[in-house]
Amino acid sequence: MSGGGLRRESPNEEWKLREKPRESDAAAVRSIVESTGFFHPYEVDVAEELIVERLRKGPSSGYHFVFAMLDGETIGYACHGPIACTQCSHDLYWLAVASPQQGKGLGRRLLGETERRIATMGGRRVYVETSGRPQYAATRTFYERCGYRLEATLDDFYAPGDSKCVYVRVVDAGWAQAKQ
Ligand SMILES: CC(C)(COP(=O)(O)OP(=O)(O)OC[C@H]1O[C@@H](n2cnc3c(N)ncnc32)[C@H](O)[C@@H]1OP(=O)(O)O)[C@@H](O)C(=O)NCCC(=O)NCCS
Repeated sequence: MSGGGLRRESPNEEWKLREKPRESDAAAVRSIVESTGFFHPYEVDVAEELIVERLRKGPSSGYHFVFAMLDGETIGYACHGPIACTQCSHDLYWLAVASPQQGKGLGRRLLGETERRIATMGGRRVYVETSGRPQYAATRTFYERCGYRLEATLDDFYAPGDSKCVYVRVVDAGWAQAKQ
């Protein structure tokens, strides 16, 4: 389907979200994450490992996914899961939108759907970690625009001069229903 203008006017009708992983998602995840130009090769490997683990073990892997499709192609995804030894805290492990599709509202849509699913699973707090480096300024802005607040900064966590920023958003069941 063509027509960028149409897409901008009614993007939500063209994106299809799905939860169930497919064998082809390992390659799709790799391609999406690589396309962002954001991640080191070893991080791309980790992104692929999580979907492979999920395909192998199913939901007991602890990794849950939301995929976004456009015209039959997977163009973005989120990966989340409950945090071990907590009652209702969840981690957002990955969120990525294929480079050509960024800036059209898909990241917000994927994140909103992920939060809704976490709330439905009984989750109440969604945590996301990102780097404090200037390269990640847009990512931090994205999370702030999507309702996340900076809960903690761990100086020199990733490397000297590279802090870890921990963001959180509180969700609840009523809020999840209202979003449906
Ligand atoms: C971060 C990412 C998931 C955002 O997805 P997206 O589809 O591009 O973002 P959206 O179009 O949904 O934007 C949502 C909001 O964030 C803001 N935002 C998004 N990208 C931004 C940028 N580069 N600079 C400033 N603000 C930005 C938008 O202005 C929008 O705010 P608004 O709706 O209040 O106007 C995507 O850009 C991406 O995959 N980036 C590379 C990987 C990454 O950083 N992943 C997250 C950390 S693991």
